[in-house]
Amino acid sequence: MVMQTHVVDHPLAAALLTTMRDARSENATFRSALRRLTHMLVYEAMRDAEVEEFPVDTPVAATTGIRLAKPPLLVPVLRAGLGMVEQASALIPSAGVGFVGMARDEETHQPVPYLESLPADLSGIPVFVLDPMLATGGSMVHTIDLLVARGATDVTAVCVVAAPAGVDALAASGHPVRLVIASIDDGLDENAFIVPGLGDAGDRQFGPR
Ligand code: PRP
Repeated sequence: MVMQTHVVDHPLAAALLTTMRDARSENATFRSALRRLTHMLVYEAMRDAEVEEFPVDTPVAATTGIRLAKPPLLVPVLRAGLGMVEQASALIPSAGVGFVGMARDEETHQPVPYLESLPADLSGIPVFVLDPMLATGGSMVHTIDLLVARGATDVTAVCVVAAPAGVDALAASGHPVRLVIASIDDGLDENAFIVPGLGDAGDRQFGPR
């Protein structure tokens, strides 16, 4: 299945991604770059959002305004996605927020869910899943399984870096999903870390767990 993929190719995004890749960047520097890059990714992800017209009066005359027809639900995948949600919310103040917690088992590389806090009915609601990393794709596919089970039919994965295997896994899931991302990297190493990647985005924001 062909999946719509939008790589945000912009000098400002590339410079922020470089800060995140740089092993010398401290946690605070990494968090700041992630916040600022999230602004650009979400801005691009909203480009085709459905809008509706409504009458508005300027101080001078009546005109037609526009507003979002369906504000999305933002779903950060804990922990790493937490660093994206504040900026995404600031950009889309009418968006709701749900939470999914998932930690990848270091040996099997399989996602282990530990938190699910989502509205029961997601039919008709666009959902933006926020997670900086798409490595094997296991965590993202599992998250989208949860959303689709609640009726979601319009899901956007907003990520910073992916491995081609993760993009393929997402496409092969057959779910109604598109991907907005800053970079698709070379591949995965033997520990299923993205190469060159940026390390572990959770650890780099919050320290090791
Ligand atoms: C990382 C990352 C994704 C997942 C990607 O989280 O934030 O959620 O791994 O890997 P996958 O595509 O192979 O599933 P991690 O499990 O390290 O948890 P953390 O965010 O709490 O650090």
